Amino acid sequence: ATLHAFVMAMPKAELHVHIEGTMEPELYLDIAARNGIATPYADAEAVRQRLRDAHDLPSFIGIYEELIAAIRSAQDFRDLAMAFFAKAQSQGVVYAEVFFDPQLHLERGIPLAAIFGGLARARIEAEQTLGFKARYIMCFLRDRSADDALKVLRDSAPWRDEFIGIGLDNPEVDGFPDKFAAVFDEARGMGLRLTTHCDVGQPNTVAHHWGALDVLKVERIDHGLNVLDDPKLIDAVRERRIGLTAAPTLFYTEIPGRMEYRAGAIKQLLEHGLLVSLNSDDPGMKRSLYIGDLMLRAARTVGLSRDMLVQLARNSFVTAWLSDEERDAYL
Ligand code: ADE
Ligand code: ZN
Repeated sequence: ATLHAFVMAMPKAELHVHIEGTMEPELYLDIAARNGIATPYADAEAVRQRLRDAHDLPSFIGIYEELIAAIRSAQDFRDLAMAFFAKAQSQGVVYAEVFFDPQLHLERGIPLAAIFGGLARARIEAEQTLGFKARYIMCFLRDRSADDALKVLRDSAPWRDEFIGIGLDNPEVDGFPDKFAAVFDEARGMGLRLTTHCDVGQPNTVAHHWGALDVLKVERIDHGLNVLDDPKLIDAVRERRIGLTAAPTLFYTEIPGRMEYRAGAIKQLLEHGLLVSLNSDDPGMKRSLYIGDLMLRAARTVGLSRDMLVQLARNSFVTAWLSDEERDAYL
């Protein structure tokens, strides 16, 4: 088979994708129009032009928040998630664990009932009509307070069965692992699974990785490429069987060499025998590139062998929050 056919046909799990970041420009315009929200964009190409202003995490998050402001109703959340599930399935993804950022919506006056209601409908519909299985991960904005995260976690008790774990996203600030220790302790006590972002280019990244492991006691790290910067971290991640949900994360405006850096780091993590997977992060807002597309680009950029691509897919199921029976059925 061609590499393209091989990659697309291989069953894969997506473990690092923000549902809000899956919103394609066309869907953004549809949702804005039906909600009567005026946008400065004449068409989808104009939205893509705006997304070209994103060149790093803070500039990306600014545009992400601007576009997300169009989302209001349960129907919007349902449509957003269904569009992603169908798209992911078209590239061979069979299972997804999907982040959502409740604080971004609560801060705009959108109630938890609309968020969970829409997400739950999409999850059930995807299983029934597509045979696609998904679970959700509640992600807290790490630049907001730990008290706010705790409040959102507690307020979500009526929907406890609709999310499997918690995470942290947004740009990293000094000292974040300690800041969220109590939130992660409470979530662990509720039987929730734990992960956090540790992205490249963020301050104190090695210390943040150690805080994620030793203070937050996460089972996965989202991105995690800087594990390579500390040999002790490489050993700890291997011994504790921590999943690294890496993403090549291409912005519309890409700094030269960044794709090579990220794909090369993923290759090195594989060579160290770590449980790294390859994920799409914010595909709708990053050039409409989904897992299959990104695997092909990474493979062509740094020469990942077919065995390595199989290992990435295998790692995605090994580190997914599946029951043993579910995992056996996928592997
Ligand atoms: N929120 C949405 N996408 C994100 C990313 N790639 N990193 C951190 N926070 C995010
Ligand atoms: Zn992310």
